[in-house]
Amino acid sequence: ATSALIDPFGRKIDYLRISVTDRCDFRCTYCMDEDVSFLAREHILSLEEIVHVAKTFISMGTKRIRITGGEPLVRKNILWAIEQIANTNGLEELTITTNGSQLYKMAQNLLNAGVSRINISLDTLKADRFYALTRRDKFQQVINGIEAVSELPFKRLKINSVMLKNHNDDELFDLARFALERKMDISFIEEMPLGVISDHDRAATYLSSDDVIETLSEHYELTPSSMTTSGPTSYYQVAGYDHKIGVISPHSHNFCDTCNRVRLTAEGRLLLCLGNEHSKDLKNVVRNTSSESISLESAIIDALALKPLQHHFNLDEAPQILRFMSATGG
Ligand code: GTP
Ligand code: 5AD
Ligand code: SF4
Repeated sequence: ATSALIDPFGRKIDYLRISVTDRCDFRCTYCMDEDVSFLAREHILSLEEIVHVAKTFISMGTKRIRITGGEPLVRKNILWAIEQIANTNGLEELTITTNGSQLYKMAQNLLNAGVSRINISLDTLKADRFYALTRRDKFQQVINGIEAVSELPFKRLKINSVMLKNHNDDELFDLARFALERKMDISFIEEMPLGVISDHDRAATYLSSDDVIETLSEHYELTPSSMTTSGPTSYYQVAGYDHKIGVISPHSHNFCDTCNRVRLTAEGRLLLCLGNEHSKDLKNVVRNTSSESISLESAIIDALALKPLQHHFNLDEAPQILRFMSATGG
């Protein structure tokens, strides 16, 4: 085993996010177009290849792995891969981020496979609005899924809500109460400019975390908390509840100085930052096993040297990053 991965700015990288598919059963208006095209099968890593890369990262000091997408739970046999990764010595937690559509039938299997925490995306509590935002009529299915996981002993559950001015910002309090009453945390997310989407003006829907906290403070007594899940969420304690309200503020409060993560895209590209294009293709390394090829370990070490200091999101310019969040895994 190699020693811990450290980037050029001295940040310890011990968290890997793996997008297991770019496909999704939803078409969220801020994430992708209705007629988005997905990668062909031969261009994406097989589950065996994903497990191999994950185990190599773990042998190099990775402590946390998050499975994302697209929608990770629509990938066939994903439970097999989750179980393989979760049971690897050295890993402290395997978590998933999901849109919730499959949880009503997969909740128990995910717990059994070794998932410790689940983050579920939910931007509204109104069925008609859910349809407008996701272009799919699956509101009740998602709610049933959330109820299913909340009855099981997962270590922690979190709701993720992307806040969009004039679309769902009148539901801040309802969403927070929904999460807190079900013993879940909630993160309100500032939208990021990933990909160009027709009929969606990101600058017009931007809502800052400070506005979110100000509005919520009319209903709740909020105190900044030092609690962290080693991610970008800044949490607040809520008087009267055990669970927390958090904000993810890529625009208003840059958190890149504490970045601890890299991402493996569905096509096997190791992406060093969500808001930059610096990357290294690991698929070729994994697929080329001839003796003169470089090892996966040295490819990962080479890639780390490319990690940039921070992202530069700017909602007033055309997006610099053309890939969608779904191709990247958040
Ligand atoms: P925890 O591991 O529980 O802290 O999860 P998380 O909140 O980091 O991850 P999740 O998958 O729930 O993502 C929530 C939001 O945070 C998504 O919109 C992600 O795109 C965003 N996010 C996660 N990591 C980063 C990051 O390094 N940079 C930026 N800009 N956004 C991130
Ligand atoms: N900006 C911010 N969050 C986004 N998500 C998808 N696209 C974007 C974007 N452009 C969110 C999803 C989910 C999480 C993984 O990322 O709603 O909660
Ligand atoms: Fe799918 Fe998540 Fe994108 Fe919505 S935000 S379309 S659920 S990947």
